[in-house]
Amino acid sequence: MTLTAGAGWGAWLLIRIAVARDLTAPSIFEVNAHGQAQIYGWMGLFIVGFALQMFPSFWGTRLVAPRLGRALLPTMAGAVLLRSVAEARPAGRFAELAVAAGAVQLAVVVTFVALLVLTARRHTSPWRAADRYLAAGLAWFVLSSVLDLRHLARTVGAAGREALLAEIATWQLPLRDLQIHGLALSMILGVSLRVLPGLFGTPVIDAGRERRARRLFWPLQLAILAEAVLFPLAMVTKSPPVFVGFWVATVGFAVTAVLAAANLRVFARSRLDLPSLSPLAFVRAAHVWLGVSLAMLVAGPLWSRLLDLPFSHAWHGATRHSITVGFVSLMMIAVASRIAPRPAESGFAGAALPLAPFVLLNLGCALRVTQQVATDLTPEAFLPAGASGLIELAGLTWWAAWIVPRLVRAGQPFATARATLTRATASTPHER
Ligand code: HEM
Repeated sequence: MTLTAGAGWGAWLLIRIAVARDLTAPSIFEVNAHGQAQIYGWMGLFIVGFALQMFPSFWGTRLVAPRLGRALLPTMAGAVLLRSVAEARPAGRFAELAVAAGAVQLAVVVTFVALLVLTARRHTSPWRAADRYLAAGLAWFVLSSVLDLRHLARTVGAAGREALLAEIATWQLPLRDLQIHGLALSMILGVSLRVLPGLFGTPVIDAGRERRARRLFWPLQLAILAEAVLFPLAMVTKSPPVFVGFWVATVGFAVTAVLAAANLRVFARSRLDLPSLSPLAFVRAAHVWLGVSLAMLVAGPLWSRLLDLPFSHAWHGATRHSITVGFVSLMMIAVASRIAPRPAESGFAGAALPLAPFVLLNLGCALRVTQQVATDLTPEAFLPAGASGLIELAGLTWWAAWIVPRLVRAGQPFATARATLTRATASTPHER
């Protein structure tokens, strides 16, 4: 998904932006078609696959209705592909097709969450702080998909340019907040609390860190909710105090997200004997990008004020990219690379990743974030920003060439992913 309709198409959009020296060169429909391919195709299918495979083990039970779980993959993949084509140019019947595909995506998400709720009710192991974050991630998945379908119907069906712009200006930002801050971050924090110590040798989640994770849970979730509610309210009322309230919510979100991520202590010395370019390097780089994105989120209004702009599209896009590629995608790559089956005899070397994807993805992300911001200052920055997409795409392709053969050859004599991860989670000491 990501090599085609996601990053592949994103790189093409970026080249067109660079050539036109204009961030609005591709239509909003093309940008959003790319966005949904990444959110439901790349990130969403990863979440669904990982959760169906591993959450039941976390909870000491078995997945209910595994056949239904399996059917979610082709259904979601088909819906993402159909929507990618139909939403990009939503004229005539294509608008209806896009909305139909969005409705299927929502149905898949609801079914997926229902399967996990029914599975969770049969849990035999005690709940941990991690499970609160996983539950929040599931709730945000449903809520964001409902808002996404409404937003999709109102954009492809907008009566005119003014109605379209009003819808985008009011609802696009809270939608992304629910998808990225709500769904992606909550899921990553929950999974990290469960698996990072076992998989990467980061410090174990002792009673103190478990307590801190519990204490941070509600402030973080309420900050996300406040972001999503206050922004549209501010846009509708045009009230300056509500805009200030929204900014305060983003500060609250940034502070609690930093504290929750710091609680994982990914920069502490690993207890495992891992090669220097193991997936742990990706985890650490991801956390740096999270910090960059959160700092940029808080500083957004200051940048606009400095340049006397009502809103900086460039700054906003760079902030989002830093979290979607830098944080979310690098975390996905790290966990996937660590749990993917590897040759049984490969030992120490089998845990290593090639250097190229690491360099290309971080370089591409750094170029995109810095140069997209710089387009506010000079049009010369459009060229390196445009090149960044190809660099990221090359990084993802290189990584795919590394992991796909491992996935395809899964089975004997490869250690299975499930066995690796079950061992890893079982080895995470925990005190309630
Ligand atoms: C890997 C290479 C990627 C490239 C080259 C790329 C490119 C782009 C471009 C050119 C835009 C429009 C310009 C802008 O708003 O800044 C955009 C927007 C967007 N991208 Fe990506 N992208 C990539 C990865 C991702 C990933 C991994 C995700 C999500 C997991 C993602 C989600 C989105 C979303 C949701 C939007 C719409 C932003 C909004 O609502 O304003 N992208 N991307």
